[in-house]
Amino acid sequence: MKRVSLTQYLVEEQRLNNSIPAELRLLIEVVARACKTISHAVGKGALGEVLGSAGSENIQGEVQKKLDILSNEILLEANEWGGHLAAMASEEMETIHPIPNRYPMGEYMLLFDPLDGSSNIDVNVSIGTIFSVLKAPEGMAAPTEQDFLQPGSKQVAAGYAVYGPQTVLVLTTGNGVNCFTLDREMGSWVLTQRNMQIPADTKEFAINTSNSRHWYPPVTRYVDEMLAGVTGPRQKDFNMRWIASMVTDVHRILCRGGIFMYPADKRDTEKPGKLRLMYEANPMSFIVEQAGGASTDGKQRMLDVQPTALHQRVAVFLGSKNEVERVTRYHQE
Ligand code: AHG
Ligand code: MN
Ligand code: MN
Repeated sequence: MKRVSLTQYLVEEQRLNNSIPAELRLLIEVVARACKTISHAVGKGALGEVLGSAGSENIQGEVQKKLDILSNEILLEANEWGGHLAAMASEEMETIHPIPNRYPMGEYMLLFDPLDGSSNIDVNVSIGTIFSVLKAPEGMAAPTEQDFLQPGSKQVAAGYAVYGPQTVLVLTTGNGVNCFTLDREMGSWVLTQRNMQIPADTKEFAINTSNSRHWYPPVTRYVDEMLAGVTGPRQKDFNMRWIASMVTDVHRILCRGGIFMYPADKRDTEKPGKLRLMYEANPMSFIVEQAGGASTDGKQRMLDVQPTALHQRVAVFLGSKNEVERVTRYHQE
C-alpha cells in the first residue's frame, strides 16, 4: 500500500479543493508535531515523571495535572514563532495568549484543550488533545478575547489526537474527516482512514449515569427508553460505554457510531453542562457533522451557538444523526 503522509495529504487537498492555504498547512503541521511530542511524553508515563498532580488549579477550579501543564506549554511553544497565528486560547489559561511582538502575526487563531481526559492519565487509559482553528476578524489590530467569540460554524479546521494503544490524529478542514496514525518508528503521521462516516443509527450510548438523579426529564426519558431494551418502546437492546475522555468516546463514535451525551443537570442552573464550548464541543461538533453525524446542545445545532465567554460550558449531545435528533426532539416536546 502506498503511504500518504500528513504533509502530502495537506498539499494534495490544497491542489484539489483549495481548502488548505500554506499558512493553514503550517498551522496543522505544527499542531500535529506538538501532538507527537505530547504522545511521547504520555508514553513515558512514570519514567518521564509526567504523572500526578501539579498542585495548582486552572480557571475552572480544576486541579491541574502535570501533563495538563506540560501539554499546554508544548502547544504554546510550538505555535508561537511560525507567523501563522494571531493568538491562542486554552483550557489551562485564564485569558488569551497573543503572539509575542518578536514574531510576525498571522491570520489564524488557535484554541485547544491540551490534555483531554485528565482523570485517566494516571490510570493508563486513553487521553487526547482537541483543537479548533478560527480566522482573526478582518482588520483586527491587537487580538482580544472578544475576537475568539465566534460560533463554531466559523471554524476553518478542527481536530483531535488520541494517545491510546495507537496514537491517531483526526482532522477536518470542512471537506470530510480523515484519520492519520503516528508511525512511532518513523515519527511520521500516515493517512490510515479517508472520509470517516458515522452511521445514522446506533445501539450504543455514552453518558455518565452516576449523575442520573440530577438529569432533566428529556434526558431521563431518552435513557430510560434505551435501557428498556427489546421489550421497551425502542424495541432493541442498547449497549453502554463511558471512557471519561471525550476524545476517546468521540473517536469510538467516529469509528462505529453511537451517541455521546454530557447534559446540563439540576445541580447548578448557572452551569449548563460540564464541557466547554470553544475547545471541546465546537471542534468535536465540526468533526462529527463533517462525518455525517449531528451535534446539539439539546435545543439547537451546536455550531450555531453564539459564544459569550471563552470558557463557557455547554450541554452536549453528539454522534449518530437519528439518535441526536431524537433526544433533541425530546427536549422540544
Ligand atoms: P478535561 O480532562 O479536559 O477536563 O475533560 C474531561 C471531560 C471529558 O473529557 C469527559 O468526557 C468528561 O470530562 C468526564 O467527566 P466525568 O468525570 O464527570 O465523567
Ligand atoms: Mn477536556
Ligand atoms: Mn483538558
